[in-house]
Amino acid sequence: MSLFSSSMSWAHKYEAVQPLDEEDARTDPTAQSVKSTAASRTCNRNVHFVWVLLVLGILAYLASKLSLEDRFSTSSEPPMPDDDLESILKNHINVDWSRFAYAQYVTNERYLCNSLMIFESLHRLGSRAERLMMYPEQWSLDAEASNSTLLRKAQDDYNVKLVPIQVQHFDGEATWGDSFTKLLAFNQTQYERVISLDSDANVLQPMDELFFLPQAPVAMPRAYWLDGTLSSQLIVIQPSETEFQRIQYAFEHRNTTDFDMEIVNDLYGQDCLIIPHRRYDLITGEFRSREHHKYLGSTTEVWDPHQILQEAKFLHFSDWPYPKPWIAGSDSLRLEIQPACNNATEGEVDCSNREIWNEFYREFRDRRDVSDSDMAIHQLTNLWR
Ligand SMILES: *[C@@H]1O[C@H](CO)[C@@H](O)[C@H](O)[C@H]1NC(C)=O
Ligand SMILES: *[C@@H]1O[C@H](CO)[C@@H](O)[C@H](O)[C@H]1NC(C)=O
Ligand SMILES: *[C@@H]1O[C@H](CO)[C@@H](O)[C@H](O)[C@H]1NC(C)=O
Ligand SMILES: *[C@@H]1O[C@H](CO)[C@@H](O)[C@H](O)[C@H]1NC(C)=O
Repeated sequence: MSLFSSSMSWAHKYEAVQPLDEEDARTDPTAQSVKSTAASRTCNRNVHFVWVLLVLGILAYLASKLSLEDRFSTSSEPPMPDDDLESILKNHINVDWSRFAYAQYVTNERYLCNSLMIFESLHRLGSRAERLMMYPEQWSLDAEASNSTLLRKAQDDYNVKLVPIQVQHFDGEATWGDSFTKLLAFNQTQYERVISLDSDANVLQPMDELFFLPQAPVAMPRAYWLDGTLSSQLIVIQPSETEFQRIQYAFEHRNTTDFDMEIVNDLYGQDCLIIPHRRYDLITGEFRSREHHKYLGSTTEVWDPHQILQEAKFLHFSDWPYPKPWIAGSDSLRLEIQPACNNATEGEVDCSNREIWNEFYREFRDRRDVSDSDMAIHQLTNLWR
């Protein structure tokens, strides 16, 4: 059985979510000033409101009392854990999925193919939200154009909405252009919420439940392998003009060593909503590590690579100095850096970490090359390797 088919079940539980750092409980000064101006506005209203509020308060109290009694009288069964999309949807009748989208950006052919693979996964795994691809406006969708095949494939086969954008160039630095292009997701105000996913990754399960997080301009997991900064590999964004203006301002005043991750940490590091990194932001390098307490969020839980894979939804390729999976890495380097086998249990050698890790790369390369009979993809991906 493939490692990946087993990871498609929804029947997992949230476990051992990393506790928030105390530091992040502090709010940032801008947020506080917004709150206090809103509060003073409310307080300055006419005194008659006091009476209206008093009456409303009594009514609200009575209503809540009634509904509480109602809840207690019918709760013969314990409530289901609210841990998957199905249970969330029970409270959201008639969800309008056109308000939500997974967003990808492409600035070159390599990204285009990676993005297509992300969208193919979301499509295959049954995600219900829309899909949005931001691509350079110079690219043509005409049949004769060399890279139009993949764009049209995205549109036709995976219901991807194509949004032409202007790719910005900053001081001749290509990486800056990519960082900015990624953050154009903040400008996609035709959506209420978008999930921006890095494309050097693998979607193992849909993440549609993230569209129902409590309201917050930005939600991100922690880069758990670092020092608690936020990871921009997965960002849940509420697109808005205001937030996009903040992003643009930050770019105009950027430091040359800062990219999208530093920008979002600078703007939202103190007061964004934290998505548990466990399940939502696993990196392949974790399987090479000997220490797993940062990922597990626990020093007592035992690392079980099969269990971890089964619960994971988003897997990011990160094994420096081993290259990204679309670049052929040398086999000697692979043998050198691949995960070790454990001799822990009574002389029995356990190579699960090694097998799973190698399968990540094999499966990705396989899918990129031959999962699709489309010869254009096959030829193009061969060129890019
Ligand atoms: C294909 O993509 C490349 C980006 O590297 C671009 O330069 C070229 O204009 C694109 N071709 C077409 C026909 O869109
Ligand atoms: C942001 O979105 C608006 C409205 O769609 C558009 O006019 C503008 O060009 C976009 N800005 C950038 C930098 O793409
Ligand atoms: C730029 O770097 C300086 C010095 O390291 C720092 O104080 C400042 O906050 C940074 N600015 C941004 C926008 O990150
Ligand atoms: C496991 O045992 C074998 C043979 O005893 C040894 O060569 C190998 O280095 C051991 N591996 C680890 C990770 O301890």
